[in-house]
Amino acid sequence: MPVNSMPGVFQLSPDELLREATQASRLGVAAVLLFGIPDRKDARASSAYARNGVVQQAVRLLKKELPHLIVITDVCLCEYMEHGHCGIVQQGKVLNDPSLKLLARTAASHAEAGANMVAPSDMMDGRVQAIRTELDRLGFTDTPIMSYAAKFASAYYGPFRDAAESTPKFGDRRSYQMDAANANEALREVAQDIQEGADIVMVKPALAYLDIIHRVKTEFGYPTAAYSVSAEYSMVKAAAAKGWIDERAVTMESLLAMRRAGADILISYAAMDVARWLKEG
Ligand code: PBG
Ligand code: ZN
Repeated sequence: MPVNSMPGVFQLSPDELLREATQASRLGVAAVLLFGIPDRKDARASSAYARNGVVQQAVRLLKKELPHLIVITDVCLCEYMEHGHCGIVQQGKVLNDPSLKLLARTAASHAEAGANMVAPSDMMDGRVQAIRTELDRLGFTDTPIMSYAAKFASAYYGPFRDAAESTPKFGDRRSYQMDAANANEALREVAQDIQEGADIVMVKPALAYLDIIHRVKTEFGYPTAAYSVSAEYSMVKAAAAKGWIDERAVTMESLLAMRRAGADILISYAAMDVARWLKEG
């Protein structure tokens, strides 16, 4: 199913995903990051940690057919909750601590399915430690965690919420995502995630937060990922469709800026286009 607000992006069934991932892998894309859209949403996000959930099925299929492709799973509850928030809700409030158990369970179920790495995007405090403890307890001591460490409450996520069908039914995510004006808090969040055992720290969005990428890389010297989010992609696509910008040049220049700021890893919806351009030279 095409995502209206993200030209070129589709919701895929596991077998469609396998076709797409095969092509990505052939083009030289090293890794994929999976998000799930379940058939059923409820108040406990049960499809997020179901043994046969859509992500768990997709991971098993990809690891069987494309063993060299690095499969990373986004760990969150919002796509699986009827209210669309990233944690358990009670009386209109998102509860931090009770959500940790469900997040850890979700990450563990991804690792059991064979995921190479898990990437928690929920922004609950303490979730990296909760996930690390649960993975270790089950013997997945070598499964790394890429944490969405500096994740800002951002208008740039709009198109993604169409794609993932995860727009909150009430309120917003500002009680758990970060204030765009506060760079110091972002650095504290990153320090906290590293201390809890994150292996890679991510900054998100990317292009409007290059200063954060740079500070995170220079202050911690940790493997740092930049997530170029949905609206960054859609704005380029829209302007390119009108013939107003050179899509390839603008995309490459933006990704270059993220690398220049200090990102070691780039996460982008344009990854397959970029891989094709790099092949063409
Ligand atoms: C939520 C989540 C979001 C993204 C990934 N996981 C955003 C949100 O709704 O808060 C954003 C991705 C994008 O915009 O590309 N757990
Ligand atoms: Zn979420």
